[in-house]
Amino acid sequence: MAKINSNYLKLAAGYLFPEIARRVNAFTSENPDAAAKLIRCGIGDVTEPLPESVRGAMHAAIDEMGTPEGFHGYGPEQGYGFLREAIAKNIYNDRGINISDDEIFVSDGSKCDSANILDIFGEGNTIAVTDPVYPVYVDTNVMVGNTGDAGNNGGYEGLVYLECNATNGFVPAIPSFPVDIIYLCYPNNPTGTVATRDELTAWVTYAKKHGSVILYDAAYSAFIQGENIPKSIYEIEGARECAIEFRSFSKDGGFTGTRCAYTVVPKDLMGKTDDGKDQSLHSLWARRQSTKFNGVSYVVQRGAEALFSDQGKAEVSKLISGYMENAKLLTDACTALGLDVFGGKDAPYVWVRCPEGVSSWEMFDKMLNEAQVVITPGSGFGAAGEGYFRISAFNSKEKVEDVCKRIAALA
Ligand code: MLT
Repeated sequence: MAKINSNYLKLAAGYLFPEIARRVNAFTSENPDAAAKLIRCGIGDVTEPLPESVRGAMHAAIDEMGTPEGFHGYGPEQGYGFLREAIAKNIYNDRGINISDDEIFVSDGSKCDSANILDIFGEGNTIAVTDPVYPVYVDTNVMVGNTGDAGNNGGYEGLVYLECNATNGFVPAIPSFPVDIIYLCYPNNPTGTVATRDELTAWVTYAKKHGSVILYDAAYSAFIQGENIPKSIYEIEGARECAIEFRSFSKDGGFTGTRCAYTVVPKDLMGKTDDGKDQSLHSLWARRQSTKFNGVSYVVQRGAEALFSDQGKAEVSKLISGYMENAKLLTDACTALGLDVFGGKDAPYVWVRCPEGVSSWEMFDKMLNEAQVVITPGSGFGAAGEGYFRISAFNSKEKVEDVCKRIAALA
């Protein structure tokens, strides 16, 4: 009899977004008339069409693939040189950050990479996550057996939860004890808030002192508007020796359906072997990817490369401005209702405190039943998210304006 991975049985509930979809489907089948009015501001999925520069590059790549000279079979698992070089130059080197193209691993998503990275870490690490948190970091640690069972508040035994709240600006306090692996995500999903240079410097200092690795999710960094907010952990001195960075074309380039992302593992970054020797994490991740991953398709990588052309940059900037204008409209609508609003200035997520005495899921139901707007309940991101909800600004302006009117009507 085949034995299962019983860690999966510890998972408290379905993954948050399928659970929301289940509830929305139940609502729409019971209320077919209301269903037609539904506006989805739950999952952070882009809505605007793929940029013309990307489509042009992908068409050209398809035509190339139709010729004997231009055909591409298996590509390099780490990504084609043309894309890694474009990333190194545009995202890092042109901003004065020292990352070389062979430290970049192109992939099909930051969600997958932030999950798969656990393959190169051993058992027995102390792992810290923020609370609230992007649920993938937690669930994947449960799946590989890095935690105990779920407790009453939905948290798992064995994980260190670092509370983020309005008082600490949604950036957790540095722990007073060592942890081995820390997940940080800024601009933050779900709170839409950012970490300052001083805050990130404190984390890098802590990680270097304790030999910890920071898993830094920067998937939303292109949305940062503030002048002095770091767009990469590698803007902080010393981060090359303690951080892995995940980035994606999903949200800024509109690639959620097209799939292309990348992870940076600097060559200076070391982990420890069982007998206490330094081991390069870069070489372990290269080994992992070349064994378990076939790379992203040539056509998609040519599309991603086009985002760094002049036309591509202009198109990305327009997409981002549109989503950030939406975030401002949503912020203003919730503020006008008398609610406390966070985030939304440097990220496409608006994080809102529920009215006094209303829980996150009650707010979800109220928005669904009374306004036909789908939001994400804060408690789905962890115990500290209870009493909040998240609105995604990824939508057309027209729909966001409609959402704002419906929010105003809730008053
Ligand atoms: C979210 O809504 O939090 C995101 O869409 C999740 C993701 O990008 O995987």
